Amino acid sequence: MRALSKFQLLKWCNPLARLASWFELTRNASSGVAARIPLRGDCQRGHVYLVGAGSGDAELLTLKAARLLQQADAVVYDRLVGDDVLAMIPAGCERYYVGKAKGHHSVPQDEIGALMVRLVRQGKSIVRLKGGDPGIFGRMGEELDALAAAQIPVTIVPGITAASSAAACMGIPLTDRGHAQQLRFVTAQLCREDGTPDWAALARRDETLVFYMGLSKVAAICAGLREAGLPDDWPIMLVANASQPDQQSLVGSLVDMPQRLAAEPLPSPCVIMVGSVVQRVATSPASTENQVHYACQH
Ligand SMILES: C[S@@+](CC[C@H](N)C(=O)[O-])C[C@H]1O[C@@H](n2cnc3c(N)ncnc32)[C@H](O)[C@@H]1O
Repeated sequence: MRALSKFQLLKWCNPLARLASWFELTRNASSGVAARIPLRGDCQRGHVYLVGAGSGDAELLTLKAARLLQQADAVVYDRLVGDDVLAMIPAGCERYYVGKAKGHHSVPQDEIGALMVRLVRQGKSIVRLKGGDPGIFGRMGEELDALAAAQIPVTIVPGITAASSAAACMGIPLTDRGHAQQLRFVTAQLCREDGTPDWAALARRDETLVFYMGLSKVAAICAGLREAGLPDDWPIMLVANASQPDQQSLVGSLVDMPQRLAAEPLPSPCVIMVGSVVQRVATSPASTENQVHYACQH
């Protein structure tokens, strides 16, 4: 008999491996208390699923994300996707890392688009896995454009964004009747020398601001908001590695946060929350980070 080529073997083994994982997922889901978790749907070949991986804790994945990860032929993923989430990808599935390597730039967007188009043209189903929610500072627009140009169908699966995760892990709401009637997600990359945020528009007392990608801009954020009229003692909180075992946080005011951070540097990724709702950390029933963290993990 003619020897089976690697391609033929993969053609048969991959679907079998996926089927086994899929049965495992549904069996686990249906054996416990939550016997009726509605896991249904397929993962179509020639289709890209832009999926949010959440903020690191694998249990914060949506059921749809977990199902697609079990079913896809290939997963294209970023740096901020947690190891526990990656561990859910079955052995037979192709993986492509397109995040930033240490000391290098990220893979250019057009190369990521071209990779997905190539995989789809090979007849595969693709999960494009992005940290948090793919539609929040995730460069999803460029990827949608690349796929639309190649007439490739896309489904977007939202994920839990870092702001939601960090607020939950610190035991506070992002909005609160007595504190904030508005919520704004801001990229701190605007705080570079060549771009000036509209500090006057951001310096409101009825709002919670969440800055993404801002760890190196904390001093500029505090100074800009104070100069635009927020008081020196206005609350600010930094949460790094939200929802992960190594989560760390700093709570302070606009005037003292730059020094606090210099004395106790936090790792990346980190979100910065500004607003009076941050005061609630002190009175939260889960007010120490360990207690809150425990609530997040278990
Ligand atoms: C390129 S943006 C991606 C945001 C992502 N799409 C989301 O919805 O969370 C990366 C920034 O998200 C924030 N971030 C992502 N994961 C985080 C985590 N686990 N803890 C704290 N901040 C996080 C950081 O501000 C980081 O610089």
